[in-house]
Amino acid sequence: MNKDLSNLREKLQALLLAQRDKSARGNVADYIPALAEVDPNLMGAAIATIDGDFVGVGDYQHAFSIQSISKVFGLVMAMNRVGDALWQRVNMEPSGQPFNSIIQLEWEKGIPRNPVINAGAILISDVLVSHYSASKLAFISFLRTIANDEDIHIDHDVFQSELAHGNRNAALAYLMKSFNNIEAEVPDVLEHYFTQCSVTMNCQQLAQSLLFLANKGVNPLNNTAVCTRKEAHRVNAILSTSGMYDQSGEFAFSVGLPAKSGVGGGIVAIVPNFGVICAWSPPLNSFGNSVVGMNFIAGLAEELGLSIY
Ligand code: DON
Repeated sequence: MNKDLSNLREKLQALLLAQRDKSARGNVADYIPALAEVDPNLMGAAIATIDGDFVGVGDYQHAFSIQSISKVFGLVMAMNRVGDALWQRVNMEPSGQPFNSIIQLEWEKGIPRNPVINAGAILISDVLVSHYSASKLAFISFLRTIANDEDIHIDHDVFQSELAHGNRNAALAYLMKSFNNIEAEVPDVLEHYFTQCSVTMNCQQLAQSLLFLANKGVNPLNNTAVCTRKEAHRVNAILSTSGMYDQSGEFAFSVGLPAKSGVGGGIVAIVPNFGVICAWSPPLNSFGNSVVGMNFIAGLAEELGLSIY
């Protein structure tokens, strides 16, 4: 792909700086108290390419709560573990509902619409708990391996906060269990799910760890297959249709990249055959997406001509 990469650092810096002056930035997530404590003025961004280039600007080395971005990693691990059988238990359609909605799950008999809404990620957590003797450890090890960085950890305050305010997620898990779509014990499944949401990573680690999705399943940092080409295709397809919560249509319409956001304010966007962008700023819009993160990625995609469509 021929992208104009000249002055990339200056371009990233200018885009991030432009966001600093904007007043409408949204609100930091506060439904989990530990998330509300993050400084709303922090912002960073990074781009990693499959050819080994990397540029980071702003607070790109500041670790933050990855929250729902963890759903991408869990999905890849579960796909690797159970293959096509996974799709008997979770669908691949956009939900058209908020990420923690319960109502659709009842109508659809405990089969989550997709793996990146909460119900779907809890189902994926069940797969991991059921197929690994130590699923939380396996999850962290997976992240450290694909990011090629041992300095990736769990924020135990965020974990405790998630656990203490997790009734809605517990309701989703028990509802799926009532439809026989959860195999392990619900508290174990929730513990895994909250653990993976509580991992902290920075923009550099996130961009580098997801390069395999831009490179047909192969991590270009060490030339090792993380998943098959078909699985990488499937993950990108799901991120294109459902990765930005209930704003996925608008993101596809205006940006045109597979992406995943988290309520910690991070967004990762995959540019197939090119690289990964990660932008982070804690204040969120009403859909739960980082306002600055979305503007930054939209601006960069436009400037470099990154849309896949
Ligand atoms: O389940 C929760 O409450 C959060 N830990 C979810 C994280 C998130 O980013 C929203 N997800 N889809």
